[in-house]
Amino acid sequence: MDSFEVLISEQEIERRVRALGQEIMADYAGKPLTIVAVLTGSLVMLADLMRQVAMPHRVALVQASSYRGARTTAGDLAVSEAFLVDVAGRHVLLLDDILDTGRTLSEIARRLESRQPLSVRSAVLLRKIGRQVVPFEPDYIGFTIPDEFVVGYGLDFDDDYRHLPYIAVYRPGAS
Ligand code: XMP
Repeated sequence: MDSFEVLISEQEIERRVRALGQEIMADYAGKPLTIVAVLTGSLVMLADLMRQVAMPHRVALVQASSYRGARTTAGDLAVSEAFLVDVAGRHVLLLDDILDTGRTLSEIARRLESRQPLSVRSAVLLRKIGRQVVPFEPDYIGFTIPDEFVVGYGLDFDDDYRHLPYIAVYRPGAS
């Protein structure tokens, strides 16, 4: 049987996202901010975070797939900017669910830099320890977690379990 072990509770996530929202608001007060969220894993956090950033800001989406169903391997990164609005003259806050190898965020940040934004910074809900292969330092980090595969609060295994309100370590059962 598959097993789920709660690593970060719903209440802890709520408190941390609220605190991050306040930090972000203080840092960007009075500035033109666009949050660019990476589909699909950051959607749940985006919905919560944008309501904590109680000042005018825009939201845009990019799709990146480096990970397809398998548990840890990251292949070539495909990025679709179909939903990315113009960020020229605006401060960009790139949002992702988890920093693992660092490939996704460093590549998307590089692409955004070429669109004449005022700045590009990043926020992640989770940073996994011991897996990073590309140097990239997020500006806002929700939680640092051990090298375990996690699901919930937007994170999936094979596109499932995103709905869980907490973050859980996922261990598939023997089949
Ligand atoms: P990189 O390696 O580019 O990876 O930093 C970021 C993307 O990898 C996926 N990922 C995970 N997804 N549980 C998940 O559900 C995990 O433990 C996990 N580790 C990496 C995720 O899509 C993320 O955006």
